[in-house]
Amino acid sequence: MKILNIGSMNLDYVYSVDHIVQPGETQATYGMNVFLGGKGINQSIACAKAGAEVYQAGMIGEDGAVFLEACKEYGVNGDYIRTISEKTGHAIIQIDRNAQNCILLYGGANVKLTEAYIDEVIAGFDKGDILLLQNEVNNLPYIVDKAYEKGMQIALNPSPFNEAILAVDLSKISLFLMNEVEGEQITGKKDPEEIITAVQEKFPNTKIVLTLGKDGAMYAEGQQRYFQPIFKVEAVDTTAAGDTFTGYFLAGMLEGMSVQDILYMSAKASSIAVTRQGAVPSIPYRKEVTGE
Ligand code: RIB
Repeated sequence: MKILNIGSMNLDYVYSVDHIVQPGETQATYGMNVFLGGKGINQSIACAKAGAEVYQAGMIGEDGAVFLEACKEYGVNGDYIRTISEKTGHAIIQIDRNAQNCILLYGGANVKLTEAYIDEVIAGFDKGDILLLQNEVNNLPYIVDKAYEKGMQIALNPSPFNEAILAVDLSKISLFLMNEVEGEQITGKKDPEEIITAVQEKFPNTKIVLTLGKDGAMYAEGQQRYFQPIFKVEAVDTTAAGDTFTGYFLAGMLEGMSVQDILYMSAKASSIAVTRQGAVPSIPYRKEVTGE
């Protein structure tokens, strides 16, 4: 069983700031770095570092060759990545003194996926393979419909949440991986239990991973519920913590690990990611997570 991730690749321009800039304010920054990021590639690299076989698909511009190199370096299959005459997607990220971030996205090549390209990518996968998606590429409803027709299992991280998510036939999703904000945006509920109940009422056959920031993470499948607290660490940058969790969760699922062990490993991996700067460079290898 393979994981196909049709997702974004962004150059992350990361600025260290005292506080997130306010409307009308100009603020001097005290540091700037460019890291590889994008929810798509972050999650693919997390899957690969956790030990899963993963294929990254999506589009970059001529300025995005670094992503092809990163795929080679981290063991992600990048054969489906296409280079087109557009700018590679990018993100402008502010990180404040409390390690909180805010992110501005420019879609660029990420949002140029054509139906013909999607057909070509999905043709390389089989019934039972996993399709992983986030909301930083275009044509999500088409991707979901085609993968579903093929019998793939679809895991959706509905992030960042916007109306494009509501255009997707969410009854085709096998696994939602979302945080409590996205959970509220999808269901209108704030309480984690209520979010899970509301998702299950609408989509009774889906599994749900709900991350709750400092309050840990929950997993629900039918009547079963699992909880995982966080590992307390000194955070320097929370970017890609959720992506790390997602990649490790899928890798653990593919290995057939128990749910509680998968949650433990995923929480541990994201606790390491927040102690490091950047998105891709912050994602730990499996041996750093398990100590083996
Ligand atoms: O989830 C973190 C990612 O969100 C960053 O790497 C940035 O590129 C945005 O896509």
